Amino acid sequence: MTTRLIKSGTLLTASDTFEADLLIEGERIAAIGTDLSAPGAKIFDASGKLVMPGGVDPHTHFDLPMFDTVSSDDHYTGHKAAAFGGTTTVMDFVPQSPPLPGREGSGVRGDIDIWRRKAEKAAIDYGFHMNLTHFDERVAREIPALVEMGVTTLKVFTAYNGRLRLADGDIFRAMRIAKEHGLLTMLHAESGDVIEVLVAEALAAGHTSPEWHARTRPAWGAVEAALRGFALAAETGAPLYLVHMNVAGEVDMLQYARERGIPVMGETCPQYLFFTDGHLRRPDGAKWICSPPMRAVDDNARLWEGIADGTIQVVGTDHCPFFFDGAKPIIYEGEEIAIPGKELGARDFTKIPNGLPGVQDRMPILWTEGVVKGRLTPNQFVALMSTNPAKIFGLYPRKGALLPGSDADIVIWDPDRMVEYGVAMSHQRTDYNLYEGWQLVGYPEKVFLRGNLIVDGEDWLGAPGMGAYLPRYSNAEIL
Ligand code: URP
Ligand code: ZN
Ligand code: ZN
Repeated sequence: MTTRLIKSGTLLTASDTFEADLLIEGERIAAIGTDLSAPGAKIFDASGKLVMPGGVDPHTHFDLPMFDTVSSDDHYTGHKAAAFGGTTTVMDFVPQSPPLPGREGSGVRGDIDIWRRKAEKAAIDYGFHMNLTHFDERVAREIPALVEMGVTTLKVFTAYNGRLRLADGDIFRAMRIAKEHGLLTMLHAESGDVIEVLVAEALAAGHTSPEWHARTRPAWGAVEAALRGFALAAETGAPLYLVHMNVAGEVDMLQYARERGIPVMGETCPQYLFFTDGHLRRPDGAKWICSPPMRAVDDNARLWEGIADGTIQVVGTDHCPFFFDGAKPIIYEGEEIAIPGKELGARDFTKIPNGLPGVQDRMPILWTEGVVKGRLTPNQFVALMSTNPAKIFGLYPRKGALLPGSDADIVIWDPDRMVEYGVAMSHQRTDYNLYEGWQLVGYPEKVFLRGNLIVDGEDWLGAPGMGAYLPRYSNAEIL
């Protein structure tokens, strides 16, 4: 068994900061203490550095078919990028196969199997959420099988009419089953009906530019749909997790519901903390197209308040990258690669693939903008990036913790490293970065996955297939 000893670091957890050594035996943390020694151990000097649990990003879309293309990171490239940013666990969404007349398919089990095969090249550890985009008696009967497979979360949508949306009554029925079997429901909250009307009107009037993406998806629709979801949580007693929160009113509604003891939690993503619908009006506005869209500076500010005061528990990424110009190849790992991207919607905003890169960016950006700028404490950072998602999604204390027995997923973080961030530093497989030219202070120096050093400065030591599937437990904590 390989033994590694991280010496003299400042350990950071969701609750504490202290000087200690950390001993790794095989894949697990064996001991934490002062003056630890282990004959034959490989020593890593972490003096002047921070030592924290590997990041847990509960919201990614790798290799996801969308419109006439596919998200440009797969379950290897996206994992590698995540690791360079300090993330060692990701959770990806599994699309539900469309219902066929007399459907003979293998149902949600088959859908999970498809994603398991795609993820055989995983480089970090991963779990899955099941998208529920069609609901009937057969699907209802299949839900308990998900728990057996370690998939303890369902994502439902109140938008994307005719494609992904479930009727409110079906969401209600699914949540009752989720409550019975200890699953967590994740909600994409936008008003599908209003969007449908506004998109048709915009296109009929000849409005085709990216800003119309935001103008046809009104903020109040997200607020109303979030409250609708919270009402269903109150009615069923089933916990609900609001994904990719982008609007101030959602934070207000989440606070309102939580103050009343309703079991609801929330996630926002870095893009909603920094950017606005003004970015969609730039000539390269398509780079910022995602659903839900960017909003206003007041929304940015209220979301920051929400993560700082604990109303929002998680910062995920919704990593779903596309090329800005998929006609121009880039060199990735020595290979020329081009994947159709945002240019597909050059003449029609509804054809721009929805989604952004971010899985590598999340921790470095939030460290500088959150911790260095005094909006978050280092311990809040660890809670939002790692410990809270591990708890909420049934992985704690295997993940998200610096505890004896936990997986040795560890980041040695250099708080003094200055970086000019951007596409040149990024391993995300796309041709742009939202944070191009941003000056960062603090960056991951070494990243361990279950005791294996997979990132050492700029060097990649990981490999396809190193990542393990993570079955998650049901009835996880409601924070
Ligand atoms: O634009 C986005 N976010 N694409 C991914 C799908 C989703 O709803 O999270
Ligand atoms: Zn969504
Ligand atoms: Zn998403």
